[in-house]
Amino acid sequence: MSNKLQGKVAIITGGASGIGEASVRHFAVHGARTIVIADIQDELGQKVVESIGPDKCSYVHCDVTDEEQVKSLVQSTVQHHGRLDIMFSNAGTFSKSSQTVIELDLAELDRLFAVNVRGMAACVKHAARAMVELNIRGSVVCTASTCASSGGDSNTDYYMSKHAVLGLVRSASKQLGVHGIRVNSVSPFVVGTPMLSRYLEKEAEEAEKLFEPMTSLKGVGAVLKAKHIADAVVFLASQDSELITGHDLVVDAGVLLK
Ligand SMILES: NC(=O)c1ccc[n+]([C@@H]2O[C@H](COP(=O)([O-])OP(=O)(O)OC[C@H]3O[C@@H](n4cnc5c(N)ncnc54)[C@H](O)[C@@H]3O)[C@@H](O)[C@H]2O)c1
Repeated sequence: MSNKLQGKVAIITGGASGIGEASVRHFAVHGARTIVIADIQDELGQKVVESIGPDKCSYVHCDVTDEEQVKSLVQSTVQHHGRLDIMFSNAGTFSKSSQTVIELDLAELDRLFAVNVRGMAACVKHAARAMVELNIRGSVVCTASTCASSGGDSNTDYYMSKHAVLGLVRSASKQLGVHGIRVNSVSPFVVGTPMLSRYLEKEAEEAEKLFEPMTSLKGVGAVLKAKHIADAVVFLASQDSELITGHDLVVDAGVLLK
């Protein structure tokens, strides 16, 4: 495998689990100098660090709903490692109840928006500020979802929040291009992660199997997994996508076309 991220310093929010964890591992394989995992699941985050090695990876407790914590995450990364090349803003949460429009619990919507929208904006803001100050032509990648470009039968708050991520990415990419900073999003369809397990109340693999008829691309023989999302993130973070910005890269095994 080629070292697409050789020498890069990266932050991955939500890196203790699921798509974030798969991306931390992929970034390490691709030669990133340092990956800072920012999450609220301290034990899981530390376990990922131990398995990759503390010379390549570190863990910072950071609740993305608290802007001060996001600011200090970025500042400490720059202090310890001298730069910030990549921000993968990926931390997210799902609806706790069905959240159809007529049942919409607005307190619940506020909780979800605090992570998926406000937290995402804080990460993009502080990463971009550091990159501009240090004159780094960096890459910012946000996790949206296929829910960002469709409506849902339920989970209205989640669908709304992911639409907002696209608005953030498109605006930020327009504003930051002049500094050489690219901003893109990755939009997964369903992959078996702890988030999906919690929602369906099933083990991740069992939950993933339910979607297999949709997520196994005929003729390719592969089933959509977190590692496929991580591949797309590495592409958007690396020089391979040097003229791509403001783009939403859908990774869905063609589900939206079916
Ligand atoms: N799994 C899917 O099918 C799927 C599909 C489309 C989009 N996504 C998106 O992918 C991203 C990752 O989700 P996942 O499926 O890997 O779920 P996950 O639950 O395995 O991982 C999410 C991570 O975010 C962290 N997190 C949550 N709130 C946080 C906060 N306030 N501050 C810091 N970290 C916080 C969690 O602790 C967890 O480690 C999310 O943005 C999610 O919306 C997931």
